Amino acid sequence: MSAGRAVTFAHANIALAKYWGKRDVANNVPAVPSLSVTLEGMRTSTTLELDGSLSADTFELNGTAAPTDALARTVTLLDRVRREAVRATYARVSSQNDFPTASGLASSASGFAALALAAVTAYGLDWDTARTSDLARRSSASAARSLLGGFVELGNELPSSGVLGAKQVAPPDQLDVRVLVCVTSEGQKAIGSTDGMGRTATKSPYYAAWVERAPEMFGELKAALLAKDLERVGELTEASALAMHASAFAAGVVYVTGATLEAMTRVRELRASGLAAWATMDAGPHVKVLVSRTDSAAVKAAMERVPGVLRVLEAKPGAGAGVIEGGK
Ligand code: DP6
Repeated sequence: MSAGRAVTFAHANIALAKYWGKRDVANNVPAVPSLSVTLEGMRTSTTLELDGSLSADTFELNGTAAPTDALARTVTLLDRVRREAVRATYARVSSQNDFPTASGLASSASGFAALALAAVTAYGLDWDTARTSDLARRSSASAARSLLGGFVELGNELPSSGVLGAKQVAPPDQLDVRVLVCVTSEGQKAIGSTDGMGRTATKSPYYAAWVERAPEMFGELKAALLAKDLERVGELTEASALAMHASAFAAGVVYVTGATLEAMTRVRELRASGLAAWATMDAGPHVKVLVSRTDSAAVKAAMERVPGVLRVLEAKPGAGAGVIEGGK
């Protein structure tokens, strides 16, 4: 019998080989495979309680009622779980991020990963990580990767089992690296990632080139990671981000701002001066820097001085999602 209540956590992840575009919109299957690193210290904690007296699900985010679209996406995930569990009871959900929220920073990855694990646990489903990751993917594909720790891949084909979950490629200590999150804005992102991908697919003359080249970059990056070749992982990380943004840019989907370009330029200068640092950007204006642990302090100090960079968070590769309370 289920606990009826669960408390879980999951960490944010940053894609080194980007997911951008959907092969199957209805099932939220990515057009290209992706590879990310899960980050310790950028954590969402979620409490989920089943309550027979509720007439609808409720969702509180960082202490206040969540916006309507976030609630709707939460209900969609819970409805899937209720169908599988054959249990109609509604849930009270509350989530907290322990890192400052900013546009495109955490994306929805840690949130949906923690929610999927909490729902599976509280509704009493005996699912393995792959199946829970598949559930998170259906809400937001990058969230599938936050169920696992270290370096994680997500494929781009729905197997005949119907379960497409992320898999760990290598443990957190595979590379001695840090990720510096350079925050450049506190506002909301202009175009959400789902919408940005849709516009890129329909309007960008370079979308086909992206979809063709991305799997090769993913394969090269995975091989470099397994060979512990940081230099090559870094080069491919920056190349993947630039190719993704170039395809989006051509559709008028522009996430970069002046501060983004200043920060990216600084990373390239630091690299030219001999530091092991590579830039990547997601569906927002922030720059994330993959950096060797030994160069991290020097690069962080330099990035803090870039005009337009508001603050720099430092994170290291971390663990996957976990259950704090509830379950068997
Ligand atoms: C640029 O996972 O947010 O961060 O599946 O539509 O919810 P949906 O998209 P989402 O996209 C993330 C895009 C990215 C790259 C990545 O994380 O791989």
